Amino acid sequence: MEIIRSITALDRFLQPFRDEGKSIGLVPTMGSLHEGHMALVKQCVGENDVSVVSVFVNPTQFNDKEDFRLYPRNSEADCALLESVGVTVAFVPSVEEMYPEPDTRVFDFGMLDKVMEGRFRPGHFNGVAQIVSKLFYIVKPTKAYFGEKDFQQLAIVREMVKQLDIPVEIVGVPIVREASGLAMSSRNLRLSEEQRQKAAEIYRSLLLSADFVGEKSIRETIDFVTNRINQIDGLRVEYFDIVNGATLQPVSDWNESTYIVGCIAVFCGDVRLIDNISYKNLGKSNDVH
Ligand code: PAF
Repeated sequence: MEIIRSITALDRFLQPFRDEGKSIGLVPTMGSLHEGHMALVKQCVGENDVSVVSVFVNPTQFNDKEDFRLYPRNSEADCALLESVGVTVAFVPSVEEMYPEPDTRVFDFGMLDKVMEGRFRPGHFNGVAQIVSKLFYIVKPTKAYFGEKDFQQLAIVREMVKQLDIPVEIVGVPIVREASGLAMSSRNLRLSEEQRQKAAEIYRSLLLSADFVGEKSIRETIDFVTNRINQIDGLRVEYFDIVNGATLQPVSDWNESTYIVGCIAVFCGDVRLIDNISYKNLGKSNDVH
């Protein structure tokens, strides 16, 4: 596996493959790789001639400086893991390499980024769009892989690709969970054992609420999940929204859409965790669009 730190060197390495018409898969990551990332990486390696995994903690998507400072960084261990599954290139640039000057681009995603994560983390998705578009311009991937845990991010990336006419296929990969049900996340590294057990109640509550579909109102479902989690000492729900899976706008009735998803953000101590559950997904694929 090549470990490449500069854009020029990466372009030089990839060009012969492009010339030969080889497929290039990209998995953008912020490192601290866990099994959730590795599911994306393995799919990417399996589906492409060349696989590129970027490892870069992107400063422009952190609206909270402390969160950026505390974000775990383990690039040596990450590269060893990537090599073990047959990745072609780990792209590990510095902040100066990716942002030689400030990125002043402002994206407009309409209502998609006004809700949920966008509401509580202003500027977050603009930063995600800045770095992901740069990576797409640099790597020129055939396919790019994103986890469904970041449900809203996946919708925003799809919208960005449409707006910018970037010729890449966006692939959504299902959430990977720990045995307890807790969605895998790099932030789980910051949880104590006790917090980890408590955090498993997030998905347990979401799962229990699946029985509410068509039986109880949306309001009752939201209250059930929120109250159940908030009752646990050390957990605090920041938001739990039940939305149309395509527009991400809240629904008020189960019949309002054939594609309904519940998206949640919960503080476990000072660690912010997100998760989601697909309540209705008729005729929709979360995979390739
Ligand atoms: O999902 C993430 O880890 C990040 O938002 C991404 C897509 C790598 C962009 O920095």
